[in-house]
Amino acid sequence: MPGQSGFPDLDREQHGLKSVSVIEQGGIVYVQQEGDIDPTHLTHALEHFSVDQQLFNQQVLTDAANWKLLYETLMEGYHIKSLHHESFYPFGYDNLNVVETFGPHSRVVYPFQRIEQIRSTRAEDRRLNGLTTSVYMLFPNASISVLSKHSNLVILEPVSPTQSQWVIYSMVNKAPYGSPITFEEARRDAAFVSDSGQEEDRAAATAIQEALPSGANSHLTFGHFEKAIVHFHQQLARALDL
Ligand SMILES: [Fe+2]
Repeated sequence: MPGQSGFPDLDREQHGLKSVSVIEQGGIVYVQQEGDIDPTHLTHALEHFSVDQQLFNQQVLTDAANWKLLYETLMEGYHIKSLHHESFYPFGYDNLNVVETFGPHSRVVYPFQRIEQIRSTRAEDRRLNGLTTSVYMLFPNASISVLSKHSNLVILEPVSPTQSQWVIYSMVNKAPYGSPITFEEARRDAAFVSDSGQEEDRAAATAIQEALPSGANSHLTFGHFEKAIVHFHQQLARALDL
């Protein structure tokens, strides 16, 4: 404390930072600003990260869009051919995903075309590392993307109804076999991802946000291909008691 002599009677124990409820699980620190975390909220929390996965990048991005519009871009592959025609689509597939839900969360698996390599491999010998992108949507506003060489933990923070902040932590993946993945390999993998669609997703969500005030659309309609988005909104409505 600067100039501590000016506060001779101050009880430092009584003037610390505000205490918050914290639980660590699977390499993620869960914090609740008010009250205590209900441990049952972590019933479906998976062991996402291990202690030997190193952080190699951290960034904060701001977009002029509601956090839910940005979050939804991570949840479906229905838009891949139209939006990512030049970037991701040449390596992936159009509208081909596996969507699973667990508790309030979901996982969307996006295969690369190179998954064909294991078509003739026996099912029990198949390893998906490097052949898919798995995106775990952690309700309500976080996600973990597991890519070939690295994983991103993304937290979408609402700043206002029309502005949001991405807080992104990038970790090196554990090598499935053989020598460990280097920082350089993880960085190259991360550059590919930001060149292959992330910017297009952000621009699309911002464009949707810009169009909303026109009042032309009273609601958005989701179909069978967007199961994870529907699940997310059902969970949100339930949590907000709507
Ligand atoms: Fe996208």
